[in-house]
Amino acid sequence: MRFSTGLLVVGIAMTADAQTQYTSTGVAAVAAAAATAKTLSPVSSIRGNQFDRFINIWLENTDIDMAAGDPSLQWVAKQGITLNNYNAITHPSQPNYVASVGGDTHWVWEDWMFRIDSDVRTIVDLLEDGGVSWGLYQEDMPYSGFEGNWVNHKTGANDYVRKHNPLMSYDSVTSNEDRLAKSKNFTMFYRDLEADTLPQWMFITPNMTNDGHDSSVTVAGAWTKRFLEPLLSNPTFMQNTLIMLTFDETECYICRNRVFSVLLGDVIPSSLRGTMNDTSFNHYSIMSTVEHNWDLGNLGLNDEKAPIMFNK
Ligand SMILES: *[C@@H]1O[C@H](CO)[C@@H](O)[C@H](O)[C@H]1NC(C)=O
Ligand SMILES: *[C@@H]1O[C@H](CO)[C@@H](O)[C@H](O)[C@H]1NC(C)=O
Ligand SMILES: *[C@@H]1O[C@H](CO)[C@@H](O)[C@H](O)[C@H]1NC(C)=O
Repeated sequence: MRFSTGLLVVGIAMTADAQTQYTSTGVAAVAAAAATAKTLSPVSSIRGNQFDRFINIWLENTDIDMAAGDPSLQWVAKQGITLNNYNAITHPSQPNYVASVGGDTHWVWEDWMFRIDSDVRTIVDLLEDGGVSWGLYQEDMPYSGFEGNWVNHKTGANDYVRKHNPLMSYDSVTSNEDRLAKSKNFTMFYRDLEADTLPQWMFITPNMTNDGHDSSVTVAGAWTKRFLEPLLSNPTFMQNTLIMLTFDETECYICRNRVFSVLLGDVIPSSLRGTMNDTSFNHYSIMSTVEHNWDLGNLGLNDEKAPIMFNK
């Protein structure tokens, strides 16, 4: 475990009252790096046992009752299966993201510039061994593979943060240029969608306003509906597709860490849309579901025994 000292990675400055501000590298430095940043959009078509495409979308810090009461998220729930007993792993954010792709929190206990040793494997190693294309879409990331944090330079608001990009804490990803090149922004998402070059495995993180972190569940819910509604009827996107919408953790630290989660997509039979499933799942189920779908094996960590979320 090390703290990153890379040129493009800068520290977090705690303000005296409450909200953490994420400082970011200068506009000029980022523009220069963006000009030469490598971007990759490889595709594949490996048949899965339950689905052929998997999309994970994460929102932030919301108690389940708040989410379940939001009209936009109620609309989302009607399109799929609500997982009524789905639990986050821990607090705060970063270890949850880290766990969802690595089968363990790997001693990441805080939101910080942690670096997990390069011999620690992730879902990416399993996907690549199985020939399954993958990519991340992170709203407002200034360029593909950017390793720092980024604020909106017009308003000063937090925008893209490293801690909400699940793979950025892993040296096995950041030390590999071709892997970094698959961490892309939403401009690239819509370009890949248009060109039909989306990968089979995706992780999507909206910006710090749209994911609810610096706003409210109303904003996060409205973003989710706005983002998903056109995709749910888009035949380029819906190719035997399973979408998993969830929250990283509850806002309340002393409550049970049960988070609002919905499975969506054209693989969900119409008879199950708008229903609830009471089986107990957690963020490790994201890995086990994907591993089982493409017969990828597992990392032998918490992913190995986590219950599978979707059996067609
Ligand atoms: C998104 O990433 C691409 C590829 O690195 C970059 O050229 C583009 O400027 C970025 N878009 C935005 C809005 O930051
Ligand atoms: C987040 O994205 C929305 C568009 O989806 C944009 O209007 C907003 O300015 C972004 N937030 C920040 C802090 O940049
Ligand atoms: C809930 O999901 C599990 C895992 O996919 C499945 O085995 C079970 O049949 C589901 N229950 C209902 C009521 O759909």
